[in-house]
Amino acid sequence: MLRYLTAGESHGRALVALVDGFPAGVDLKVEAINAELVRRQGGYGRGGRQTIEADHVEVLSGVWRGMTLGSPIALLIPNKDFKIDQMEDLDRPRPGHGDLSGSIKYLTSVRAILERASARETTTRVAAGALAKQLLAPLGITAFAYVVQVGELQVPPKLGELEEQRAWRDHSIIYTLDPDRDQQVAELIDRCKQAGDTLGGIIEIRVEGLPYGLGTHTQWDKKLDGRLAQAVMAVQAMKGVEIGMGFQAARIPGSQVHDPIQFDPSQTHTRSLGFTRTHNNAGGLEAGMTNSQPLVLRVAMKPISTLAKPLESVNLQTKQSELASYERSDVCAVAAASCILENVVAFEMACAVVEKFGGDNLEEIKQRLDLFYEMARKMLNE
Ligand SMILES: Cc1cc2nc3c(=O)[nH]c(=O)nc-3n(C[C@H](O)[C@H](O)[C@H](O)COP(=O)(O)O)c2cc1C
Repeated sequence: MLRYLTAGESHGRALVALVDGFPAGVDLKVEAINAELVRRQGGYGRGGRQTIEADHVEVLSGVWRGMTLGSPIALLIPNKDFKIDQMEDLDRPRPGHGDLSGSIKYLTSVRAILERASARETTTRVAAGALAKQLLAPLGITAFAYVVQVGELQVPPKLGELEEQRAWRDHSIIYTLDPDRDQQVAELIDRCKQAGDTLGGIIEIRVEGLPYGLGTHTQWDKKLDGRLAQAVMAVQAMKGVEIGMGFQAARIPGSQVHDPIQFDPSQTHTRSLGFTRTHNNAGGLEAGMTNSQPLVLRVAMKPISTLAKPLESVNLQTKQSELASYERSDVCAVAAASCILENVVAFEMACAVVEKFGGDNLEEIKQRLDLFYEMARKMLNE
């Protein structure tokens, strides 16, 4: 079983991910993890913290001469802004944060809650996901995410090959697939900032190169749709998830929703085994299993809760009505969120791969994947 846990506070010494069950034989590229950490820090609309930090990972264990060993991998990301013991408490809880409920639940300060609830913790999830991508890549599986909406402004993805789309996204200051719209999005974020307000948005995540049968229909907690929903909804500020056509599927008849199955003998050598679909409204998942079509998820991020023009709150000492506390904050972090979601989804897909094909060694996984396809072709009399 592949899994990870994280530790660390926003202004603590460092953040840590402990990745357990990661297969041996993966040629670990630390630069690739660092590149994702840099991407997480970017995107138009971020606050001052990103100018302080220069995130990079230190791999503390589980690797020898650049190769993973199959033993636990500890990833550490130091905090330059390490000052937790000098920081003041907040006495006016911010609506939209865990400040009030957390401090009551743990019978502690607001600071104790916000330091761990903070999305700074996602550095560890990005590092773990960037590691998982290095297991997926040799198997031909890629995870890719981009922003499709900021506030009310939709930026539909421009169609193209994956590498072309990656280039567009990496040229966009807001990580959309249409950098020509950057100016318009930036102006929207600027207007919002001037008004002391914040913005959310929608992120689309796509995973390609998938085999049949990751996840299973047999038990509720093993269904891949449920597990992906948990993984993405557990990212700070995510408030909705759609798979494939998502909510739109509830509004139209089944004949317009489900993806007809056809057979194309020229495609039997591919991971589809020749079973093609006229469209992919299911988003690559049927009955909690991958169906060899691209996985497509859309996730809604709420606007940042810390407002420069704060909402009404209550002073925890005096119980008088006052405006909520303000701390240095992002105005819009949808771009960064797309990087986080890409990596969170990659990790979940790596878990599903390890479950289906065994998790001790990458070479073994590759051979079992090939063997599975050999057996499936035999069953289909191909
Ligand atoms: C990339 C990213 C950056 C964020 N930056 C901030 C921020 O600067 N200020 C803030 O108040 N919330 C920020 N958030 C959101 C909070 O962490 C989150 O809303 C809060 O922990 C409450 O959790 P919930 O929204 O999941 O209920 C950010 C979230 C993400 C994903």
